[in-house]
Amino acid sequence: LAGFLRNILACAALLADGQPASAGDAAQGEKDFSRCRACHSIESPDETFVRGGRGGPNLYGIVGRQAGTDPDYRYEGSIIEAGEAGLTWTEELIAAYITDPRGFIAGYVDRPKVRMPLQRLENPADVAAYLATFGPARGE
Ligand code: HEC
Repeated sequence: LAGFLRNILACAALLADGQPASAGDAAQGEKDFSRCRACHSIESPDETFVRGGRGGPNLYGIVGRQAGTDPDYRYEGSIIEAGEAGLTWTEELIAAYITDPRGFIAGYVDRPKVRMPLQRLENPADVAAYLATFGPARGE
C-alpha cells in the first residue's frame, strides 16, 4: 500500500509539472531490471546502456515500438503475430505483459507460443517506467 501511495504521489507530482504521467517509479524499475538482464540488454545503435543476455530482444526504445520488431533478434514465438495484430508497446501494456506473458499474448493470438517467462514483481509499472527512459525520442 505504501508503494501504491508513493506512486499516486509521484503521478500527481508529474501531472503538476505538466510532464507525461507514468504509473511507475523508474528508479525502482532500474533495480527491478536486474531480473531482466539475464535475457535483455538496453542498447542504442551507438551506446550500451545496460549490457545483458541475448536470450531475449534488446529493449532500447521498446515503449512505442511494435511488438516483435527488434531487427537483430530472432523471434520464435507468437509475439511477431501479436505485433502484426496491432500490439504496440506502452508502459501499461508492458506492465501487464511481464506478469503474465502467455495470458497477455493469448489476447492477440490463438494458442500462443511464448518463451518469455513470467516475472513476479511487486509493481511491474516500475520497470516499464524505467524502460520508457530509453529511446530515440528522448535523445538517448
Ligand atoms: C529467461 C529470459 C527472459 C527474462 C528473464 C525476461 N525476458 Fe523478456 N523476453 C524474453 C524472450 C525470449 C522474449 C521474446 C518473446 C518470446 O519469445 O516470447 C521476451 C520479450 C520481451 C518483451 C517484448 C519485446 C518485443 O520485442 O516485443 C518485453 C517488453 C520484455 N520481454 C520485457 C521483460 C522485462 C521487463 C523483464 C524483467 C522483468 C523480462 N522481459 C525478463 C525472455 C526473457
